[in-house]
Amino acid sequence: MSSNKIRASITGVHGYVPNYILSNSELEKLVDTSDEWIVTRTGIKERRILKGDMKGTSIIGTKCVEGLLEKTGTSANDIDLIICATVTPDMFFPSTANLIANNVGANNSYGFDLSAACSGFLYALATGSQFIESGAHKKVIVIGADKMSSIIDYTERKNCVLFGDGGGAVLLEPSKDNTGIQDYILKSDGSGGDMLCLKAGGSLRPASIKTIENKEHYIYQEGSSVFKFAVTNMANVSEEIMLKNNLTSNDISYLVPHQANKRIIDATANRMGVGPEKVLLNIEKYGNTTAGTIPLCFWDFEKKFKKGDNLVLAAFGGGFTWGSLYLKWSYNTK
Ligand code: ACO
Repeated sequence: MSSNKIRASITGVHGYVPNYILSNSELEKLVDTSDEWIVTRTGIKERRILKGDMKGTSIIGTKCVEGLLEKTGTSANDIDLIICATVTPDMFFPSTANLIANNVGANNSYGFDLSAACSGFLYALATGSQFIESGAHKKVIVIGADKMSSIIDYTERKNCVLFGDGGGAVLLEPSKDNTGIQDYILKSDGSGGDMLCLKAGGSLRPASIKTIENKEHYIYQEGSSVFKFAVTNMANVSEEIMLKNNLTSNDISYLVPHQANKRIIDATANRMGVGPEKVLLNIEKYGNTTAGTIPLCFWDFEKKFKKGDNLVLAAFGGGFTWGSLYLKWSYNTK
C-alpha cells in the first residue's frame, strides 16, 4: 500500500557498548548475590561498564553517531537535529546532544536531551518523527544512551545487578513508500515517581554532604512495586497499539522490547500472542541500559529485518513512563 503521507523512516542504526564486561560472577564477589538468582529473576548474565575518569554518556552517543554517519554515508553537516534520550547526561547543561553534535562536527544542527528514563528512546523517536512528518527537517538523529554505572551503588545488591552502560542511534529520514513510523502511544503517571528515581542532585535536594552520606545520588527503586506496574502497563499498551492498528500477532514480525527484566518481556509477548522467535532479546549481554536498550536491539538484530517488516516497540520506566510504537522497517541490510 502506498500513500502520499510523509513518514519518518529509520534509514540506519548503530550502537556502542564499552569493552569492559561486568559478569554475574564478578558481582558475586562484590555483593551477596548469585548468578542463579540474577539469571532466573532477570535474565541478565553480564553487562558493559564504561571505565575511566572523565568519561560520560556523550562518549557512548558520539561513538554511536560516528558509526551511524559512516554506515549511512551521511555528512555530519547535513544533520538538522540531534535528540539524545538519557537520564545520565554528562552534565545538567549543556545538553549531551550538544556535546555529541560538537564531537561529530554536526555544525548545522541543533539538539536537546529528553528525559523519560527507560521509555526515553520511544519518546525521542516519536518526537523526532514529528520534525520529519511536518517537513521541517530531512535528517534527524535520535540517540538513546546511558552510563547507568555512574548512578549505581556497587555495595547494594538490589540495583547493581540490573543495569549496564551503552546506547544506540538511528537516522530518521522522510519516506513516501509508507514504511517508517506508523503510530505510537505514549503514557506517563507521575504518581509513581517516588518508586523509581534519583533523589538528590536536582533543585529539590541539591548535592550536599548529607545527600552523599544518605546515598541519594544513586538510583532508588522499589523493585517489586515497579515490576507490577511494568508488567501490567507494558503489556496493556502493546495490546492497545495492536488493536488500534488492526494488527494480529501474525502481522507482527518482531517485538522490540525495553530490556529491564526478561519476565516483563515474556508477559508482554504473551499478551500480544507472539512467540519467542519474534521477541528480540539481548538483556543477557547488556542488562538494562535504560534509554539504550531498544536502539541496541536494532543494532544487534538489524540483519534480521527486511523492508516492510512490522515492528512493535514497547517500554516502561521511571516517571512512570511507558508506551509502544509501531513501525514498518524501511530497508534490507546487505
Ligand atoms: N541477589 C540476590 N537476592 C536479591 C537480589 C540480588 N541481586 N536483589 C534482591 N534480592 C532478594 C531481596 O532482598 C528479597 O529477599 P527477601 O525476600 O529476603 O526480602 C528477594 O530477593 C526478592 O526480592 P524482590 O525485590 O521481591 O525480587 P523480584 O523478584 O521483584 O526481583 C527485580 C527484583 C529484578 C528488581 C524486579 O522487581 C524488577 O525487575 N523490577 C522492575 C524493574 C524495571 O522494570 N524497572 C523499570 C525500568 S528502570 C528505569 O526506568 C531507569
